[in-house]
Amino acid sequence: MKLPHHLTIRNGHLHINGQDCTALAQTYGTPLYVTSEDRIVEHYRSYTKAFLARYPKVQVLFAAKANGNLAVMRALAREGAGADVFSSGELRLALDAGMAPEKLLFNGSSKTPRDLQLAVENGVKVSVDSLDELHQLDAVARAAGKTVKIAFRVNPALDVPTHPKIATGLATSKFGIPHGEIPAAYREALACKNIQPVGIHCHIGSQILDIEPFVRAAEVMVRIATELTNMGVRLEFIDLGGGLGIPYHHDTDPAPTPEDYAAKVIPVFRAGVEACGITPELWVEPGRSLVADSTVLLTRVNSTKSAHKKFANVDAGFNLLIRPAMYDAYHEVIVANRADAPLTTEYTVTGPICETGDIVAADRKLPLLETGDIIAVLDAGAYGFAMSSQYNCRPRCPEVLIQGSRISLMRRGETVEDITAPMQCPPWQR
Ligand code: LLP
Repeated sequence: MKLPHHLTIRNGHLHINGQDCTALAQTYGTPLYVTSEDRIVEHYRSYTKAFLARYPKVQVLFAAKANGNLAVMRALAREGAGADVFSSGELRLALDAGMAPEKLLFNGSSKTPRDLQLAVENGVKVSVDSLDELHQLDAVARAAGKTVKIAFRVNPALDVPTHPKIATGLATSKFGIPHGEIPAAYREALACKNIQPVGIHCHIGSQILDIEPFVRAAEVMVRIATELTNMGVRLEFIDLGGGLGIPYHHDTDPAPTPEDYAAKVIPVFRAGVEACGITPELWVEPGRSLVADSTVLLTRVNSTKSAHKKFANVDAGFNLLIRPAMYDAYHEVIVANRADAPLTTEYTVTGPICETGDIVAADRKLPLLETGDIIAVLDAGAYGFAMSSQYNCRPRCPEVLIQGSRISLMRRGETVEDITAPMQCPPWQR
């Protein structure tokens, strides 16, 4: 199996950033998320390099939903990243990580009054998803005596090649304002006293492995930018969203790079903005492609069983990585402590959750497994821990970060007490 360069096999053991995964599992226990900070920084730099080579004003916003660990956010903040935040919690994380408020965009189709207030108080730009939200935000800004800079979230009505649950720019999707109604929305925004419309924003979907849909999105966005500029809107930024997919099937998926994306999308973007005589900042907000392959989820084989097929029962399931159960997603798996052993036996790797759908990896050729083997689930850094739960009263596992040869916990493992502490029995049960 092809491996990215931060994953290596030495003496039969899988290593991440030079550290032996089997030893990490022994030291910290399993399940365990292990992340290479260097790999995240490498991806961030490849975005900025590819984009800045073709356009002078670029801001990369990390989609915090993909991996909301403070240390991951801080690593990106130190590189100059901003963030797409989708809740007050993500806003707080981004600020705590040291990201400048002007590099943040508060996204979301269902914001609370408190969300709007926090955006205004912190001077964060807002991606407004409806006219109702626009008027609520205007009122909040007026009450605070402030002006808030906004973009509208454009629904570009683009059908994209990805799982329907993560196609976000379909005409039928819950996100954004239909592209035909966008000029009217900006007219309304221009009439609001405490709103300053300065951007446009879209997101067409996630895990897209083909660049063409992004080109089409850029075409829609520059067309809208032209109309808005003609209307007198002074655009400071155009946010093309995130969405570059990653090769979860290491040997067969295409692996589009930021360079591929920039080479095709930026000429369209550039020609469009030059034609209307503006130089807005170009924003992108990748999540998955910055963090997914930085991380392995290490999980121990609790038992094996031959029933209608061979099962390997491991200690991490959809409580810690829901993507296979939720999107039929594929993640490569490697037996970390026998990574160069011949792949002789087909297993279905199942988690410890009381659901038939708790399958981590179906029908994979692996070495003959033994209890105690450590399985590494690859590409677990995006929407992995971030979507975890405490289902079946299972405490979430720790997360470890590696930078150079340094290793540190970046989240301690939860205990059962962490789960039970917020609970209380009502007075009539005491
Ligand atoms: N910006 C917005 C407004 C988004 O909705 C998303 C993802 C992103 C940026 C980041 O997109 P990315 O670069 O990661 O593709 N949980 C799913 C993915 C959901 C994505 C939702 N929006 C999964 O595990 O595949």
